[in-house]
Amino acid sequence: MRVAICPGSFDPVTLGHLDIIQRACKIFDKVIVAVPINPSKKTSFTVEERMELLKLATKGLNVEIDSVDGLLADYAKVKGATAIVKGLRAMSDFEYEFQMALTNKKLNPELETMFLSTSSEFMFLSSSMVKQVAGFGGDISHFVPECIADIIGERLKGTYLK
Ligand code: PNS
Repeated sequence: MRVAICPGSFDPVTLGHLDIIQRACKIFDKVIVAVPINPSKKTSFTVEERMELLKLATKGLNVEIDSVDGLLADYAKVKGATAIVKGLRAMSDFEYEFQMALTNKKLNPELETMFLSTSSEFMFLSSSMVKQVAGFGGDISHFVPECIADIIGERLKGTYLK
């Protein structure tokens, strides 16, 4: 069985993330969407909230939503995963992603990182943009899965007006 991990902060999950997860599901037998527990990174949503949003957004897909406490390279070994799947939007994503891919390869030589190019309609999309638009009370229905748009909108409304 081929297992892949789609890791990310997912703060919050966007349609761009969901597109990558769906495409990974077509290639692998099992996809684990992994949210690292990183206390030093400031996020708008807690790990639990981000996992709950991911569960709602991926309903009907053959995915497992999990949190990761530690290195992804070690987690992959425990889970029997052979690949990390990430989306690339533009060249600006590349340097950071390449650095992570090479680090993970050193830590776990059995683990490949695969990059899927983003679907063109999501080139511009990022969790930061979603947070900014929602924070000003704007419409995020084109940016995040429909079933969680209201939850995210309500949760972030007013956060940019303080
Ligand atoms: O959505 P992001 O913030 O680009 O995701 C980054 C992520 C979660 C993939 C990265 O921070 C990560 O893998 N964290 C787990 C800890 C780890 O393994 N660090 C070393 C990899 S370079």
